[in-house]
Amino acid sequence: MNAIREGDPQAAVAGAALPHDSAHLHVCGAATYIDDIAELRGTLYAAIGTSERAHARIVSIDLSAARSAPGVVCVIAAADIPGKNDCGPVIADDPIFATDHVQYFGQSIFAVAARSVDEARRAAKLARIEYDDLPALLTAPEAVAANSFVLPTERMRRGDAAAAIAGAPRRLRGRLAIGGQDQFYLEGHIAYAMPREDNTMLVHSSTQHPGEVQHQVAHALGVASKDVVVECRRMGGGFGGKESQPALFACVAALLARATGKAVKLRLDRDDDMTITGKRHDFVTDYDVGFDAQGRILGISFVLAGRCGYSADLSGSINDRAMFHSDNCYYLENVDIVSYRCKTNTVSNTAFRGFGGPQGMMGIEYVIDEIARQLDLDPLAVRKANFYGKTERNVTHYQQTLEDNCIEEIVAELEVSSDYAKRRAAIREWNRTSPILKRGIALTPVKFGISFTATHLNQAGALVHIYKDGTVLLNHGGTEMGQGLFIKVAQVVAEELQLDIGAIRITGSDTSKVPNASPTAASAGTDINGKAAQLAARTLKERLIAFAAEHFGVDAAQVGFLRNRVRIGDRTLPFKELVNLAFVARVSLSATGFYKTPKIHYDRKTFTGRPFFYFAYGAAVSEVVIDTLTGENRMLRVDILHDVGKSLNPAVDMGQIEGGFIQGVGWLTTEELCWNAQGRLTTHAPSTYKIPVASDVPPRFHVRMLERSSNVEDTVHRSKAVGEPPLMLGISVFHALKDAIASTVDYVVSPQLDAPATPERVLHSVVQVRQRVAAQSTPATAMGAPA
Ligand code: MTE
Ligand code: MOS
Repeated sequence: MNAIREGDPQAAVAGAALPHDSAHLHVCGAATYIDDIAELRGTLYAAIGTSERAHARIVSIDLSAARSAPGVVCVIAAADIPGKNDCGPVIADDPIFATDHVQYFGQSIFAVAARSVDEARRAAKLARIEYDDLPALLTAPEAVAANSFVLPTERMRRGDAAAAIAGAPRRLRGRLAIGGQDQFYLEGHIAYAMPREDNTMLVHSSTQHPGEVQHQVAHALGVASKDVVVECRRMGGGFGGKESQPALFACVAALLARATGKAVKLRLDRDDDMTITGKRHDFVTDYDVGFDAQGRILGISFVLAGRCGYSADLSGSINDRAMFHSDNCYYLENVDIVSYRCKTNTVSNTAFRGFGGPQGMMGIEYVIDEIARQLDLDPLAVRKANFYGKTERNVTHYQQTLEDNCIEEIVAELEVSSDYAKRRAAIREWNRTSPILKRGIALTPVKFGISFTATHLNQAGALVHIYKDGTVLLNHGGTEMGQGLFIKVAQVVAEELQLDIGAIRITGSDTSKVPNASPTAASAGTDINGKAAQLAARTLKERLIAFAAEHFGVDAAQVGFLRNRVRIGDRTLPFKELVNLAFVARVSLSATGFYKTPKIHYDRKTFTGRPFFYFAYGAAVSEVVIDTLTGENRMLRVDILHDVGKSLNPAVDMGQIEGGFIQGVGWLTTEELCWNAQGRLTTHAPSTYKIPVASDVPPRFHVRMLERSSNVEDTVHRSKAVGEPPLMLGISVFHALKDAIASTVDYVVSPQLDAPATPERVLHSVVQVRQRVAAQSTPATAMGAPA
């Protein structure tokens, strides 16, 4: 890693392992999150009153007790909204306040503003609401059976899957349930609305999409976008959970601010946050696959039932992405994918790191593992047999040709560096002599498409100012949620202008600086905002070059930027001196940059085209141990090789790979969401919902970035997006657990295992495989019977 010192004229800033720009603030508690903003005089605090039914008609709402509760200043409900009672990001099916009908336990019905947080929260519990209960659909299969969908069913097809499956030598059918996941950002949802003169409003919102919040607040208030400004300096994590859903809280805070004329802050506590806001979609995936003796897939069909909850939110694109990633790294010649977008009486599920991709990928990885166990082959051999090729078998089921396929190289290198084959044999040997503890190992690959599949979102803007003293102010449409976007973009600008990173002030996202910005999502933050900022900096650089050439009477080609200095003919000048001269000569020192991702296009009607600019690849080998008496388990060793192209910041990228992987492991092992029969989420705090902690990191954790890598596409400094793809490396841990369970019966049957593989599920699966083996009348010699 090329860590640089300030002013080192040799080192490049782009590519340097600089610390996160706010690291020094994070570690000493000095980073300003929204709840830390110095409060305006008279600030009021808000709380939301929510539904206590999963599905019901509202017969009556009596808010008098809330209104007269101590400290309460204002209570509002749907009738008090001057504008539109909706905050849905795509479809208008997300009321800010329910009116005559509630559709999930936790749905917002009214809000209170009071003189203290405590008084607001107490008052919000005092409503008397009479309900007339309606039957509630709580799960995806129930919704499929009832034909209850938030959006039309979609289908992606190539070849003739049914015929290929029927004609194949072997066939397997099955069902896999994949759990959801709470984003569990450390900072919960929060909005702080400040009324300003002439009916305008400033809202500080913890959001990945300030522009969306601006539009929703304007709609709710019945004003125009020009009258609302949304700012976000940083989030304490978003993970997709703050892509669309901050709008509700910003609208409620702004409505109360408008009603009272006071600044209003709405900060959810953890239980409310988990109850009110959407999570990763849980899926029930049915598969039917035909394959040959080598495990090569000849035909496959998937039926994906994604639980969207009561409204559409971003479920269209999320379920599309699941379909796009149902191939992962494998060439599926004959494939048929049906995707149900299930409408249930539960919270509206939303974006979560991977955005449906992980659920799609889990389906195919599970099928590959099942095929391998059926044929008694190493699952890795079956994976390799199905990999996309480079010149043939290289077109995806949506007709995009892979131009950057490096999965074979990554897997080959990782297989060697992790000593996979030897360890697999050693683990099998170890298991023979270990009656209670059993080990398992799995290597799984990742291929993740980079770009928003909603093509219009692949655009970005930036604003760069140079001040007279030669320092720079940087702003762009992206948001910082801990992922290191701001430092990476600053590095790009510093590189362009050949300045020390300390010469650049990074500023928060602000809808009044860059308009109509896309959400920071789809891992594309650096790709698009980095390019936009680079273009803005380049414009300024070109202006300075033209000015210097004219002023000093040299050819423009003789002006060059050195670190903190500019060479003009045979003299060099400090950057700030040139800037000052340019200022005096009335050269504009402010520029915008705009970028749109090239080459992408696709037709959503047929699901064909090039939805992705390029792909990010990686692979992981995980070794686990399970306790067959309790189902408890842990990771022993994990090896990762991940492709980030030419890293803009190896320190930040390493953090993304490690963190993404661990978050993926949490999704598939310990993080379990439970709803009771009344549709109430019962796991709404860390006491009942278990995310991985530092002690869960495997004792041997070898993470490497693919060396000498570069993006074949013209991305910013040839880097690759890194935010989401590593999450899916966690799939290796799930399959290592499955391998360990299979060992309890000497690998003669394949365990049924749903996600998350909690200790209970692991234990249950162990019991089940033993029962299945015991029930087999003739002793099994090979893996199961022919289909
Ligand atoms: N890393 C941290 N620390 N916190 C986050 O909230 N969100 C992830 C990922 N990494 C997240 C994170 C998600 S869901 C996405 S889409 C990307 O960061 C978004 O940022 P990027 O586009 O700049 O990578
Ligand atoms: Mo990330 S799920 O695209 O916000």
